[in-house]
Amino acid sequence: MRLKNRVVLITGGASGIGRAIALRFCREGAHVVIGDITTEVLEGGTPTHEIATAEGLSCSWLRCDVSDEADCEAAIAQTIARHGRIDVLVNNAVARLGKPLLDVSRAEWDRMMAVGLTGVFMMTKAAVRAMVGQTPPEGGLPDVRGRIVNISSQHGMVASPEDIAYGTAKAGVVYMTRQVAVDYAKAGIVCNAVAPGKIMTGKGGRAIEPRWVDYSHSRTPWPRLGTPEDVAGSALFLASDDAAYVTGHNLLVDGGWMAF
Ligand SMILES: NC(=O)c1ccc[n+]([C@@H]2O[C@H](COP(=O)([O-])OP(=O)(O)OC[C@H]3O[C@@H](n4cnc5c(N)ncnc54)[C@H](O)[C@@H]3O)[C@@H](O)[C@H]2O)c1
Repeated sequence: MRLKNRVVLITGGASGIGRAIALRFCREGAHVVIGDITTEVLEGGTPTHEIATAEGLSCSWLRCDVSDEADCEAAIAQTIARHGRIDVLVNNAVARLGKPLLDVSRAEWDRMMAVGLTGVFMMTKAAVRAMVGQTPPEGGLPDVRGRIVNISSQHGMVASPEDIAYGTAKAGVVYMTRQVAVDYAKAGIVCNAVAPGKIMTGKGGRAIEPRWVDYSHSRTPWPRLGTPEDVAGSALFLASDDAAYVTGHNLLVDGGWMAF
């Protein structure tokens, strides 16, 4: 119960990595709110919040398009209305594109940035504003008022082949993690990121095209690709009091991709 009674908002928690984080955090005692544009699970199956509530855990869903500033503000306000405070924000939502420079339209570029980068900015701004005005959680570290966990990517540090908008957005998230950590350390805000390598979430499309799966294996020293649960474990560490005096960090969960 490493997150007992902590209030956590997870964007994009309906599917994939966000789904695994939501379920893991609930099982660790958190009150989880999922902010997503849908309850539908991309890889199939029962909606995340329904699985959790069937287990007797505290998990709810709200509609939030992170590219819409009013939605971001409302998601934080509703989380606080439901549970009294917000202890952890997990910025996980992402849009998908998968195109090289010459094939990306201005509208596609703008959409990727709106969800993957500006969405992180707006959610973080709304969350930090609330966090700086609250006392540390009961039983928590006395100098921590709130935590941000960004889901970045190894592709924010090395080129994302044929996916320029995604990689650029992720590079921005890696940077924003450090900036928020530095600017709000004195206010008791901890900000870190988890950078997954190739994670097999169960969805189809480009994610499972043989050329990209083969490429990922060729870049990953560990003999298997990642699972959403691998990422959830590291997100849990950064969301918990075990991550004390750790801020501005981008934790690679990549099977060694970036060491190779
Ligand atoms: N899967 C991987 O291999 C991998 C690797 C590195 C990093 N990541 C990162 O992990 C995170 C999750 O990836 P995933 O593979 O689980 O993604 P996914 O595509 O499986 O799920 C994304 C979730 O975000 C939601 N979403 C999309 N647009 C939204 C919006 N505008 N507002 C709110 N929610 C929205 C979707 O409905 C979905 O629930 C992303 O930030 C991604 O960049 C994934």
